Amino acid sequence: MLVEVRDLTKIYVTGKVEVGALQGIDLDIEQGEFVAIMGPSGSGKTTFMNIIGCLDRATAGTYMLSGQHAEGLNDDQLAEVRGQQIGFVFQTYNLLRQATALQNVELPLQYARVRNRRQRALEALAKLGLADRAHHLPSELSGGEQQRVAIARSLVNEPSLILADEPTGNLDSRTGAEVMDLFCQLNQDGITMVLVTHDAGVASYARRLVQFLDGKVVSDEGVNGNGEMESGWKPDPREEGDAEGGETD
Ligand SMILES: Nc1ncnc2c1ncn2[C@@H]1O[C@H](COP(=O)(O)OP(=O)(O)O)[C@@H](O)[C@H]1O
Ligand SMILES: [Mg+2]
Repeated sequence: MLVEVRDLTKIYVTGKVEVGALQGIDLDIEQGEFVAIMGPSGSGKTTFMNIIGCLDRATAGTYMLSGQHAEGLNDDQLAEVRGQQIGFVFQTYNLLRQATALQNVELPLQYARVRNRRQRALEALAKLGLADRAHHLPSELSGGEQQRVAIARSLVNEPSLILADEPTGNLDSRTGAEVMDLFCQLNQDGITMVLVTHDAGVASYARRLVQFLDGKVVSDEGVNGNGEMESGWKPDPREEGDAEGGETD
């Protein structure tokens, strides 16, 4: 099992106020899955992604990544796990604004102290169709291009898991669809994808849909993964799945 989460709890304490952002999440994700997470704002999706991405720690419960417990790891060890196994894609791209596309993509390799950084970063950019944009600054790129740079950055370490939190949130629907097609391709290459979105059309690219509400998982079901769902689609238990795939519960 790639991701194994048991009774995961996160409580944020701000002054005297405690927020139970995650209230006992149980979730397993196998290598090669493509999972979409949906749920209203404040339901704990980003908190969950941060914890499985080893960017933050749970208050209670257990998280195992590739069979290794994350609870006992110190900050350096968490950073090492991130660098070796996880790629991140964010809604706002999170590129360094003073750095070129190439330098942005090289960054994770710098942290990992690997050789051939330039070569590998160029290859990742080329894979995303951005070879001719390598020396551009983010401000010289369109939103879709910036997100593709961010995806190249997430890929360059050859992670087993890519975590994408609202990756299409700032993109127009056509560019968003291109990004989703890319994620499907990466998933077919064997990378496990976990994607947060509030757009059911985006979620329909996944093979599995997990719904969060108030820090809990309230639904977990297979979907077709054909990216053909209309935006605004709501899961309806009475609805038949499309013939192809036929995994809809
Ligand atoms: N760093 C933080 N400090 C305090 N409360 C937080 C913090 N991050 C998130 N929260 C709270 O935790 C809950 C879940 O937030 P979040 O995981 O961001 O939800 P989502 O991504 O589903 O919108 C919300 O009530 C939010 O206000
Ligand atoms: Mg969020």
